[in-house]
Amino acid sequence: EVPADLAGRHVVVSAGGTREPLDPVRYLGNRSSGKQGYALACTAAARGARVTLVAANSALPDPAGVDVVPVESAVQLREAVLKAAADADAVVMAAAVADFRPAVYAPAKIKKKSGAEPEPLALVRNPDILAELSTDRPRAGQIVVGFAAETDDVLANGRTKLARKRCDLLVVNEVGETKTFGAEENEAVVLGADGSETPVPHGPKEALSDTVWDLVVLRFP
Ligand code: PMT
Repeated sequence: EVPADLAGRHVVVSAGGTREPLDPVRYLGNRSSGKQGYALACTAAARGARVTLVAANSALPDPAGVDVVPVESAVQLREAVLKAAADADAVVMAAAVADFRPAVYAPAKIKKKSGAEPEPLALVRNPDILAELSTDRPRAGQIVVGFAAETDDVLANGRTKLARKRCDLLVVNEVGETKTFGAEENEAVVLGADGSETPVPHGPKEALSDTVWDLVVLRFP
């Protein structure tokens, strides 16, 4: 029996990986498939929530009964998340968002000049959407959840990230070229701003999602 403990709630989930365009043909991207974010959206819908899923470049089918907003870049993801967050009870940032984007977008395909060395690639910082949401909550009492994708010193880096981002919960998971990205399963420790630490054993991404929603429901005002 699935609890209807998100009935009457609006939740926003971001999923997938942003693409930061260099020209009409190339982009800087990452390995996120969107599976973890889509699992969060599906489990929230099953628990009765109205769900807005801001989806960055995922090949997954739209989940039934979920409002899907497709985006490509971090700047577009920020706009879509902030718009949907205005009346949201909770926002979960499972998307892998690029920290930097190319400083210049070339409107025509960049050509290689014969014999010339390649130009260095200039980057500029992208907005930190999670930190922005956590600091200026679009709605009073809104619960903000982040993810931390770490390859090393996983828990220590996660604790530092929680302090820096100021979200209510941070789901710390280990990633690698073939670890977690694109997998059906995940394992994590969910850190709370209240100092709580909830380990979630290896299992389906839906199981981790349900634990996240349990912890969110406990924190609703
Ligand atoms: O999609 P899958 O293949 O299922 O893989 C799942 C996942 C590994 C992508 C997912 O579980 C995960 O860890 N997502 C977060 C990836 C990430 O961007 O981590 P980060 O440690 O770089 O960022 C920390 C947090 O800040 C994240 O909530 C991120 O959404 C957010 N962020 C990051 C940069 C930025 N400019 N703005 C942000 O809001």
